[in-house]
This record gives sequence, C-alpha cells and structure tokens, in this order.
Amino acid sequence: MSGPNTDYDPVEVTPLKSEEVESARDDALAAIADATDLETLKQVRIDHTGDRSPLALANREIGALPPQARKEAGQRIGKARGAVNQALAARTSVLEAEHEERMLVEETVDVTLPTDRVPPGARHPITTGSELIADIFVAMGWEVAEGPVIEAEWLNFDALNLGPDHPARTMQDTFWTDPQDNGIVLRTHTSPVQARTMLTRTPPIYVVCPGRVFRTDEYDATHSPVFHQVEGLAIDEGISMAHLKGTLDHFATAMFGEGITTRFRPSYFPFTEPSAEVDLVCFVCRGATVVDGGDGPVACRTCRGEGWIEWGGCGVVNPRVLRACGVDSDRYSGFAFGMGIDRTLMFRHGLEDLRDLFEGDVRFTTAFGTEI
Ligand code: PHE
Repeated sequence: MSGPNTDYDPVEVTPLKSEEVESARDDALAAIADATDLETLKQVRIDHTGDRSPLALANREIGALPPQARKEAGQRIGKARGAVNQALAARTSVLEAEHEERMLVEETVDVTLPTDRVPPGARHPITTGSELIADIFVAMGWEVAEGPVIEAEWLNFDALNLGPDHPARTMQDTFWTDPQDNGIVLRTHTSPVQARTMLTRTPPIYVVCPGRVFRTDEYDATHSPVFHQVEGLAIDEGISMAHLKGTLDHFATAMFGEGITTRFRPSYFPFTEPSAEVDLVCFVCRGATVVDGGDGPVACRTCRGEGWIEWGGCGVVNPRVLRACGVDSDRYSGFAFGMGIDRTLMFRHGLEDLRDLFEGDVRFTTAFGTEI
C-alpha cells in the first residue's frame, strides 16, 4: 500500500490554484452584484455555491491534498466561499427589502377612496307618492283597495254605465287584448275597482285605490300611455255632494298645504250623476292669478292666470252603477272621484316633464329617496 502523497504539490491541482479560486470568487461576486431580483439571485446561489459550483468542486479537492497543503488551500477556499456567502446574504437582504417596498407600493389600498360607488337605491316617487295619498285617506278611516290592471271590459265600461254603444267609450282610447272580442282590456281608469269593491263588500264602503292605468295616448311632456290614477269611493246612507267636496278639500290641503282647496265645474261621467271636474287652487299664485314678475305683477304661468288648475273628475255615484253592482240604491248613495297621481306629483314637486317619472333615471329618483 502506498502512503499519502507527501510530494503532492497543491499548486498543481488546477481548481485550487489561487487565480482559479479568485476568478471563481470574482465570477460569483459579479453575478451576485448583477442579480436584480430574488429569482435571479436564487439561480446565482445554485450556480456559485451549489454542489456543482466551481468553489464546491475545488473544496472537494482539498481532501486529496497532502496534510501540509490542506490548511493553506482550505483557508483560501474558505475565504473565497465566505466572501461569496457574505455577498449573497447582503444582496439577499437588499433585494428582499426592495421586494417588500415594491409590494407595499403595488398593493397599497387607498383608504381615502370613496366607498359609496354603488349608491343605495331609492323608492320611486310614484310609489312613495301613492303611499302618501293612501295614508291621507287611511288616516280618515278609509281602506286601500286594489284591482287587476288587465280587466274585464264589463267592469271597465259596462258596469260603470258605459254600454257598448255609449258615446263616452270613445273618451278613453283603449288597449284591447287579442283576440279583439275576448272582452279583456288594459284598464283605462281605476273606476273598475269601484265596481269590484261594491260587488264584493257591503256598505258602508270607504276605499281609495291608487293604481296604474292605460290609454292609447301619445308619449309627451304631459301624456303617457301608462299613467297612474287614484280612485276614491264612499258608499253610505245619506252621502251627498257636500261630503265629496269636504273630502277633496281635505285631500288637497293635505297634499299641497293650507289654503289649497278645490272647486267643482259641471261635467259628465256616465258613472256619476251629478258629475264635476275638480280644480285646485293654484299652488303657485294661490288663486291670485298673478305673481310678482320683478317689475310688477305678471300672469301666473302655472295656472295661465286662471287661479285654478284641473285636478280630476268626481261626482255622486249614478244609481244605475249602484244597482249594477248589487247595492241597494234606495238605501245607499255614494260619491266617487279619480285623479292622476303623476299629475298630482308634478304639481307637488314642480316637475316640468311627465316623462321624468317613467324613464327610470336614478339621478331623478334618488332626489325623492328620503321622502317618507
Ligand atoms: N274615471 C274617470 C276618468 O278616468 C275619473 C272619475 C272617477 C270621474 C270617479 C268620476 C268619478 O276620467
């Protein structure tokens, strides 16, 4: 067996030559310095300190050296590896700090941004307005009644004394459903609810019915083929036109304020006799017909100098209607009225265009959202 190779000259082992070690170390330090992110640095660590790196391979050669040469070679390699590890550690902490800083910037949450980018919705003014009207009557002990919007022709017309050939049928341009002779219409007014109520209840009856109605009208600033009416019906013993007037005056004042009352103008509805158109005291000039125009009084634009504004129709229920709906017309009498809810809201809120109520623009609706 041969002994240790005491003549072995470490300088002859290429990987351990001091220039080789220094160049491996310098390559490593340069690669470390060049690494600009942690991912690259990880690869540099593998390439320059891993098992197959030049310095690791050189280190492995040390064992093969004669004992007296090992110390010096070991010191040289150790120093080089130490320098590389130190540089790696320093570069790692620099890149980690950079990474952290970048993440802080990239993932910053701006807590000052507004949080209400999905604004809360608002109930539609027609809904709140209908409820307000119903509440005025409920406070007087009335009940709220409802009926279908797709209605029997008989209830919409015939029961209300509007027979098939009655000329007044043409007053309400009707949407008929197919087939034409099936006797089903989109209700043209809320008055069929009167008929339905009388057919299903016994007097005394005090009901108010807000609801949607349909007519083949143009769609413009003051007309719409779909609009809303509120119908009132009172049936009791001894009901007269005076009760009707008092009720509508109260309704007007509750809706538009103190001093806004009503007047009646003779009119005709087949289902009421006598019948009247209801006018409101103009809520702008308050009946004065003129307003202050800056340089003196000018005619009020809202009522066109009339002092009054058309509001709806009303009358004493025609006994023929009472009888058609099974009410004893000798014992009971009643009054009924109907007016446009949309029109009422236009007055109340100073709206210029009816279409604003139907076009669903939330910027319009939201303004009413807090009304209770
Ligand atoms: N129904 C009538 C209309 O739509 C209004 C009305 C209701 C008139 C009740 C009198 C009584 O024009």
